[in-house]
Amino acid sequence: MTTLGPFELGPETRHPAYGIYYGDARQLVRHIPDESVGLVLTDPPFGIGFSYGSGYRDDPGRYVADILSWLVPEINRVLVPGGYAFVFQARLRLRETWQHFPADSRIFAACKNFAQVGRGEILESFDPVVFWRKGDVARLPSGSGHRRDWFIANTARTGGRRDNAFHDCPRPLDVIEYIVDRFSLAGDVVLDLFAGSGTTCVAARRTGRRYLAFELDLTYCAGARERVRNAQPPLLVPQAEQLGLEIVA
Ligand SMILES: C[S@@+](CC[C@H](N)C(=O)[O-])C[C@H]1O[C@@H](n2cnc3c(N)ncnc32)[C@H](O)[C@@H]1O
Repeated sequence: MTTLGPFELGPETRHPAYGIYYGDARQLVRHIPDESVGLVLTDPPFGIGFSYGSGYRDDPGRYVADILSWLVPEINRVLVPGGYAFVFQARLRLRETWQHFPADSRIFAACKNFAQVGRGEILESFDPVVFWRKGDVARLPSGSGHRRDWFIANTARTGGRRDNAFHDCPRPLDVIEYIVDRFSLAGDVVLDLFAGSGTTCVAARRTGRRYLAFELDLTYCAGARERVRNAQPPLLVPQAEQLGLEIVA
C-alpha cells in the first residue's frame, strides 16, 4: 500500500482507495493524481449566505475566491479525457458564476416534482447543474435516448426518519444516481468535493462505481460514512469489495 498525502493507493490501481475524507476540499483535491477520475459530481456551497446547522455559513462575498477560483481548474486536472463534470449552482448567481466555467458548458436541469413557491411570478421547478465534458474524446457509449440533460427527481418527503435527515440540504438520490449511472462507467472513480450527506457516494455504491469525497464538517462526514455503509446496492451490481478494492472509510 502506497501513501500519497492523506490518501492510500490501492496496490492494483493508481487511484486513491475510495472513501469520504474529512477536511477542506481545496487542500485535499491537490493529492488526487492527474486524469484519474471518471466523473466529478458536486454540489458546493452556493455563495448565497446559507447557514448550515453545523455553523458553517457560505459567504457571498468570498464565493469566487474561496470556491470557484480553484474548482474548475482542479476538476479539469483530475478528470480523465472525455470525463464529465457536473456542478450544482444557484440560479440566483448563475449570471455571475457562469464565466468561471469552461466555454462549452451546458445546463442540466435537476427538476423537482413540485414547484417551489416563491415571491416571483414564475414558479421555480428545477435547479441548474453546470456540466461539461473534458476535451473532444468520447469515452461513454453513444446511443440516441441513452442520456439527456434533465431528470425529474422525486422530492416528496414520505415521512419517517430519512437517512439523510442529519444534513440541511441533501439532494434527492434519484437525480444523482441518474447522472452517475449515465455519465460514468462501471468501476470509475466518482469524485464529490463537497460530500454533505454523502448522496453522490451512495449513488456510486449503488451503481458499482468507486467514490472519493471530501467534507469540511466532521458531523456531516460521520453521517455520510454511516449512510453509505448502510446503502444497499441493487442485486447484480458488482461492488468494489468484490473487485478487490480496499475501503478506507
Ligand atoms: C450543498 S452541501 C452538499 C449536499 C450534498 N450534495 C448532499 O446531497 O448531501 C455543501 C457541503 O459542502 C461542505 N463544505 C463547505 N465548504 C467545504 C470545503 N471547503 N471543503 C469540503 N467541504 C465543504 C458543507 O459542510 C456542506 O455539507
